Amino acid sequence: MLIDGHGRTVNYLRISVTERCNFRCQYCMPEKPFSWVPNENLLSFEELFSFVKVAIDEGIDKVRITGGEPLLREDLDSFVAMIHNHKPDIDLALTTNGYLLAECAERLKNAGLKRINVSIDTLKPHIAYRIAQKDVLHKVLEGVDAAQEAGLKVKVNMVPLKHINEDEIVDVMDYAKARGMTIRYIEYMENVHAHGELKGLTGKEILDHIRKRYRFKKLGREGSSPAFYYMTDEGYKFGIIDPHKHDFCESCNRIRLTAEGHLIPCLYFDEAMSIREAVKAGKIDEASEILREVLRNKPEKNRWGEDQGEESNRAFYQTGG
Ligand code: 5AD
Ligand code: SF4
Repeated sequence: MLIDGHGRTVNYLRISVTERCNFRCQYCMPEKPFSWVPNENLLSFEELFSFVKVAIDEGIDKVRITGGEPLLREDLDSFVAMIHNHKPDIDLALTTNGYLLAECAERLKNAGLKRINVSIDTLKPHIAYRIAQKDVLHKVLEGVDAAQEAGLKVKVNMVPLKHINEDEIVDVMDYAKARGMTIRYIEYMENVHAHGELKGLTGKEILDHIRKRYRFKKLGREGSSPAFYYMTDEGYKFGIIDPHKHDFCESCNRIRLTAEGHLIPCLYFDEAMSIREAVKAGKIDEASEILREVLRNKPEKNRWGEDQGEESNRAFYQTGG
């Protein structure tokens, strides 16, 4: 079992397999970064897996593959298969923008993927264009259909933004509901990479929109999920992720690994250490020791607003949200 310096059990590993993305979402990566991490700096799937194996053997039982856009990494299904074959009952999930999903949903499912989260911020093509700065909606929706057909469990993420998609909060819920998918609304997190003019909705404002159409009651958090769940009178469950609150840090069970091999204990890079050299040299014991050290130093709370005035330097596309 992996226990951090504050007594929390850590059983959830998020792996960002690339920081690159084929969208330019206003709230994440409105412009292409000045430079990408060169491809030769990325750890190969075999190298990443050699660490994942250690992490699983030490107590990780939930793995999520993220990006950037993870489906931009060729043959991602081979990585999925490595993890699945090592421990088939692992809760193996993927976060994607959905654009390339139609082509690979079935392969991913066959490789052992169980669940995906897809971002759907709007059902209007021109708004999708405005947010992602590309004509994406049709392919994303096709991707969701393909994933469901392949038998993957799908959750929807929506980031409500003032004057952009706030009028669609209930419409996107209805879309998800009709397909048996849970929706989670994520409060926009201010960060220096995002488009400066953006304004997000608070959890309370999001609930006010939903209240216009549905009556609902509070359910609460589920395990270590950062989402707070609600249920409508007709029995549909939805969640709100409010990163501006600190209360989910108490039950935080996660660590993050980047494609270059940085092991990040919290939303910030500050306490990160690299497993890169250890993994490249095949020194698995060393990687395991680094994992323990990072966990010892895992901060108690995220530093939102402590030193950055509510705006983070962190790039979501580097750590996969
Ligand atoms: N604020 C809130 N959510 C964000 N995401 C990316 N950037 C931000 C941000 N600044 C979300 C995406 C996706 C998930 C991986 O992270 O919408 O659903
Ligand atoms: Fe890409 Fe996701 Fe960031 Fe949008 S939010 S730019 S899809 S990584």
